[in-house]
Amino acid sequence: MQFITVNDKKYELKDISEETPILWVLRDYLNMTGTKFGCGVGQCGACTVLLDNIAIRSCSTPLSEVGNKKIITIETQTDKTVQKLQKFWVQEDVVQCGYCQSGQIMNAAGLVKSNPKPNEEEILSAMNGNICRCGTYNKIKTAIKAATV
Ligand code: FES
Repeated sequence: MQFITVNDKKYELKDISEETPILWVLRDYLNMTGTKFGCGVGQCGACTVLLDNIAIRSCSTPLSEVGNKKIITIETQTDKTVQKLQKFWVQEDVVQCGYCQSGQIMNAAGLVKSNPKPNEEEILSAMNGNICRCGTYNKIKTAIKAATV
């Protein structure tokens, strides 16, 4: 029997291989579909979640790496960093198609948790691996800056 803690709630997992990527545990077993599948090979960032407050690619992180660590997803109702970023995402009107944006916000949350007041260079460096086909990069940068002044 396995347990996993997501957004402050403990879930029991039955008959799931330890090799299953966290992305599919979230989407297929826990019905949390805010975390998106993009490339599936750790290259786009659409699937980003926090594992003990560190941004990780859930498509290429197996369940076996979770252990007692806590997962936070875009569906969190309690994480203040994620909620603040969501507020500024709306304020700055970042989203176009929206598909990559939960991953963008969760990656930004990982940055802000380790570096509460990142400068422009640090924002660009941290967000560099999260791809947006709509090209919302400038608005993402503006939203992170506004959320961390
Ligand atoms: Fe995980 Fe692209 S879906 S990095």
